[in-house]
This record gives sequence, structure tokens and C-alpha cells, in this order.
Amino acid sequence: MSHLSYYVFDAYGTLFDVHSAVSRFADDVGPDATRVSEIWRNKQLEYSWTRAAMNQYQDFWELTQQALDFALEAVPSANKNTKTDLLNAYMTLDCYKEVPAVLKALQNLGAKTAILSNGSPHMLNSAVKSAGLDVLLDNVFSVDEISTFKTMPITYQLITDAWNVDPEEIQFQSSNRWDIAGAKSFGFRCNWINRTKQPDEYIDLAPDRILHDLADLIQS
Ligand code: LAC
Repeated sequence: MSHLSYYVFDAYGTLFDVHSAVSRFADDVGPDATRVSEIWRNKQLEYSWTRAAMNQYQDFWELTQQALDFALEAVPSANKNTKTDLLNAYMTLDCYKEVPAVLKALQNLGAKTAILSNGSPHMLNSAVKSAGLDVLLDNVFSVDEISTFKTMPITYQLITDAWNVDPEEIQFQSSNRWDIAGAKSFGFRCNWINRTKQPDEYIDLAPDRILHDLADLIQS
């Protein structure tokens, strides 16, 4: 029985602001830039779930590109010439402003910290490094090593296998309610980071706590 505490974070939407890519080029993308960003994200996730269910894996970078192609095609006002800029921006997404201080505080408390993400290793490593988080995390776990996506239980098991701990020892943070449902179903203790005050869902797979942002983690 260990006395360490273990904090695992989802990446996209939780540590990194996925809409910061389109925000950086909003004027170039056009008047419906926000819509483009939403479709991009929703399709990226849909592709991950359908491919996991079909057992037809393609890595998350591939799906991110396909989702952007769809979004730029689906929104008539969108400027398709922004594709390369948007994809490059996805490699260096902004992290939410409280993230470095929260990871640092957990590190100072002696906690182990990691990312568990659907992202492929090269996109995760790039975002982690450009946000300066590489020195604040013990591990970056990508589902790519098992060729499937969250919410498949074996994705959450990557953590318990690597760290040799029981699921209930893990504090799991995600802003994605579907990811909290998956992590809860696996047995993690879950903090849903509900930044945008979304209504609750997956009621039978409830988070242990609902926090406004990650700073609440070290204040409560
Ligand atoms: C992640 C997503 C998909 O796993 O938000 O980082």
C-alpha cells in the first residue's frame, strides 16, 4: 500500500485549450470561426469513438486532420487556406492559465502527475513542451501504444499497470464529461473540471467532485 498521491490529467480541453488554435487565426478563418472550432473538436472526438468501437484505429493526429477538413468544408464561410496554420497551432496549444502553478504545487506536495490522452505521442509531446509542462509531469501516457481510444477500459488501465496501483488510488481530472464517465466506470476517483458550466450527463457515472477549474484542486 503506497502513501503517494497520484494525479492524472486528460490533455485536450483539460490542460490545453483546444479552441485556442482557431482563436489565434479567427480573423483569417472568417465570421464563423467559433463554429469551425466546435465542429473540428466534435468530429475529432466522434471519429475516435467510432474507430474504437469498430477496432479500426488511426492515430489522433490523423483524426484531427480529417476533422479539420470536414469542419472547413461544412462551414461555407470558412477560409480553407488556414488549414496549415490551424494544424501548426494545434501542436502548440495554449494551456489554461492555472495549469503550471497547479502542477508545480502537486509536485511540491510529492504527488506523481501524468497525462492520459487520446493524443498521439508527437502531438502531445509538442504541446507539453511548448507550454513548458514537460518538467512538471512524471509521465505522458498516450493511448497510441494500445491502438484504441478512451473510453475503452484498457486505456485507463495503462495508468494502473504503469504505476502498479489500484484504480481508486488515482485522482483523475478531465473537463470532458464522457471521459469522466469512462474513468469512473474503471474505478478512478474523478474530478470533473466544468469550466463552462455544462449540464451534467452520464448520471449513473457521476464524478466525485465538480470543480470550476484546476486551481480548485489545490485549494479544496
Ligand atoms: C484527450 C482528449 C480527447 O484524451 O481530450 O486528451
